[in-house]
Amino acid sequence: MELAQEEQDMLDGKYGEAVKQSMNILVSLGEIFGAKRLINIASVQIAGVSYHNLGEAGLDYLSDLARDGKVRVLTTLNPAGMDMENWETLGISPEFAEKQIKVIDAFKRMDVIATCTCTPYFIGNNPHFGEHVAWSESSAVCYANSVLGLKTNREGGPSALASALTGKTPEFGFHLDENRQAEITIEVKAKIQTIPDFGALGYAIGKKIGKKIAFIKGIEKASVEQLKSFCASIATYGGTALFHMEGITPNKTDIPQEFVEVSQEDIDNAKKDLNDDDAEIDIVAIGCPHLSLKEVEDVARMLDGKKVKKEMWVCVARPVKQTAENMGLIKIIEDSGAKIACDTCMAVAPLKGRFKGLATDSAKGCFYGRGKNSFKTKFATIHELIEEATK
Ligand code: F3S
Repeated sequence: MELAQEEQDMLDGKYGEAVKQSMNILVSLGEIFGAKRLINIASVQIAGVSYHNLGEAGLDYLSDLARDGKVRVLTTLNPAGMDMENWETLGISPEFAEKQIKVIDAFKRMDVIATCTCTPYFIGNNPHFGEHVAWSESSAVCYANSVLGLKTNREGGPSALASALTGKTPEFGFHLDENRQAEITIEVKAKIQTIPDFGALGYAIGKKIGKKIAFIKGIEKASVEQLKSFCASIATYGGTALFHMEGITPNKTDIPQEFVEVSQEDIDNAKKDLNDDDAEIDIVAIGCPHLSLKEVEDVARMLDGKKVKKEMWVCVARPVKQTAENMGLIKIIEDSGAKIACDTCMAVAPLKGRFKGLATDSAKGCFYGRGKNSFKTKFATIHELIEEATK
């Protein structure tokens, strides 16, 4: 791979140890994937922030980099294992909290914006159409590529951090326009209207086509919130990092002549698969991916004057919470007994053993609730979830 003089200096250690280590990672990746050069990036989103996933080895790695590393571009963080301010209310142990705080402190020393959310595009990590970025977190990557028209590979935590510390990424995969064309056309012949409908659609398409890039026809309209839910689901159940939706997403693509149909039966079956008949619900969680301000407003309106009788988490980025607080929405939600969870979610928090059954409107939430926390799941609309929590 050809390096510019500054990049070679980074690799030779002239910019410090953290930059040298980072450049080593990026050059190795570039060579493995056949990149010809490194390119500049506009922003970074780093996943793998929970101490639950990182463990002691991960914390040591971050602390080493933080000795002399500083990020060179706007860099935000994915959810951590707990709400960084309100962890006690959410039942997190002091031992876990101590470790999680050390992880976040290491990121802060590197000048990372320590707002831990999987919807960084709601809090200002929002480069313009066509820019190259280095994001990790499967739903955010899919949203960045497909909805925002950014260009990113599906980075891991270490490669995203390496890009943040150097401002570079190797040019391969989704950074090249020839790799961003649709490979298969999906004809949707089902009613897709609610957030769970979009989640079920992502599940059905993901299961049918895996990582292929879809050109999706038959969706009349989709809100930002519905697309957020769809991205999380298709990336979880298929592994794709990019799709095109006719008349809705901004990227240009050729239209493939290989067709796959998604029927109403596929959507109904997806919903059936995400619902466990024997689920005894003891936690209701909304906000996977983290809620938009409009969704917080909707939830507040639905909870107004009600009392929840089960544990209920409303997961949201802290700056969105702060705006919602100014609008009086957080008080309404908290008066109902529901808990606001910033910086974290029901999948990355260490909840295994504390609850048995999760009710959520997120298809991705069902996957991780089952896989990581051994929950049984109920998949429903926000209206139905609030009924479940208050009955
Ligand atoms: Fe975000 Fe957690 Fe869901 S990281 S996408 S809220 S599983």
